Amino acid sequence: MFGGIIHTPSDNPHDENKTFDFPTSIFYLLFRPMNKFFITTPIYYVNDVPHIGHAYTTILADVLARFHRAAGDEVFFITGVDEHGQKVLQAAQKRGVSPQQHCDELAPRFGNLWEKLNIGNDDFIRTTEVRHTKVVQHVLQKVYDAGDIYVDEYEGWYSVAEERFITETEMTSGQFRDVKQIKERNYFFKMGKYQERLIKYIQDNPNFIMPEHRANEILGFLKQPLGDLCISRPKARMSWGIDLPFDKDYVTYVWFDALINYISVPGYSSNDKKFEKWWPADLHLIGKDILTTHSVYWTTMLFSLGLELPKTIFAHGWWLTGDTKMSKSLGNVMNPMDFIEKYGVDAVRYFLMREMVLGSDANFTEDAFIKRYNSDLANDFGNLLNRVSGLLGKNHGGVVPTPGAMTPAEEEIVAFGRGLSVKVHGLVAGLKIHEAIDETLNLVRLVNKYLESQAPWKLAKTDLPSASRVLYVAAEALRLSAVLLKSVMPSKTQTVLDILGAGDSGLTWGELKPGTKLQAHEVLFPRIEIEKK
Ligand code: MSP
Repeated sequence: MFGGIIHTPSDNPHDENKTFDFPTSIFYLLFRPMNKFFITTPIYYVNDVPHIGHAYTTILADVLARFHRAAGDEVFFITGVDEHGQKVLQAAQKRGVSPQQHCDELAPRFGNLWEKLNIGNDDFIRTTEVRHTKVVQHVLQKVYDAGDIYVDEYEGWYSVAEERFITETEMTSGQFRDVKQIKERNYFFKMGKYQERLIKYIQDNPNFIMPEHRANEILGFLKQPLGDLCISRPKARMSWGIDLPFDKDYVTYVWFDALINYISVPGYSSNDKKFEKWWPADLHLIGKDILTTHSVYWTTMLFSLGLELPKTIFAHGWWLTGDTKMSKSLGNVMNPMDFIEKYGVDAVRYFLMREMVLGSDANFTEDAFIKRYNSDLANDFGNLLNRVSGLLGKNHGGVVPTPGAMTPAEEEIVAFGRGLSVKVHGLVAGLKIHEAIDETLNLVRLVNKYLESQAPWKLAKTDLPSASRVLYVAAEALRLSAVLLKSVMPSKTQTVLDILGAGDSGLTWGELKPGTKLQAHEVLFPRIEIEKK
């Protein structure tokens, strides 16, 4: 977000309000130490059609990455695609092409969508790239040499859809499709040996798995003995994967391959300097569907490698249609492209960020989208711009006026505006994105009400200095809210700031310069009229 540029105090030495008159204020942001921030999304199955669920995690990561960049942090934001495994092989065979060709054709669908959604990732990994496969083999060899991988004969139920062996209980639950009995020799990772250490780690590090109820869920799961993990597939059955370096008749299990992207991209075993700089990740953002693989498989793999664990694994909820998860296999997915084309990228980003309470599920319907768009973007934010530029154009020569002395009505708004930046930063840092947006919209709503009660269009006829004061405060509040919403809606907020001649302004109240000529513009968010049936 919620950012823009945070100026150092020396940028604006004449602003007397920047002294110690608001201790819980912008000073916290100005002197906050600069950090590194390494954020990841899951790498998505290349076979999936990218849908709103995938777009959501990626936009969320982008919003947080932009927010941290704006706060002066050095950011590394990665995403990518997961290309190995049985489903990819089967899909390629069905089309009569090689699995590599199949992946080469499908992978760009994700990259293209991220471009359309204005995602500023720093890297994009495909698990078939040599820079990744080499690291996976290095990891396998290292874990093998440490004595944490052994070979065994195993007989059990195998779910082709999930690409893993399932337990007897899972089998009888009836929740797994495409299940068959398999007996084979395989390699196993001694995951069980790390059970106690993992439990203790979760208990000692309350920010490790978030939200808290997810950590409790994993602790509950760890009350049962943790088995070892089958990490190989015989090539005779499934050949599309990375070879085990110690047995060429096998490829590795997709998760033992995919999870490693989080260290292969920042340079584990290939670029020590880069790796030391970025690892451990600050935030693995994931959906709740892949919590176990991340908090149990991945962390025990890292224990075995002697590496630090990511600082936080955050599992968000699902986008539902009705009561069911949106997913390709259920055939109820919303295509983000349809919404982007119809309503614009920033509106889609705004809706997804505002509507979902991080950690809970949310419902995606076009009706909810239109309602939110019309109320927040057309009526509140867009309307404030229209009013400010319309009134300045009509009575003030289209120029930002000089504010003059404040009255209590303005002081209320200024106080709200000054406190807002710090509040928003706190909320984003606590991953309460929807609240941070709502707080910013509260400023917009407050100013819209203030304009109605002050009626600067009437004042302009009798008391031009008062009309100037009111419109300066309204325009400045609009500018500040645009800066605060920048990470969520990078393009529309830039338009607003450019109209106000404040393109690279920051978070301090009063940066709007009197005398600036406003630029002409179109309606920012045209209202969506719902056809009556
Ligand atoms: N390839 C694995 C992840 C490997 S990570 C090392 C995978 N891929 S996936 O294509 O199925 O993507 C799963 C992720 O997509 C979820 O964790 C979540 O981030 C996102 N979503 C997919 N459907 C979703 C919803 N309906 N709602 C919200 N997000 C969901 O699992």
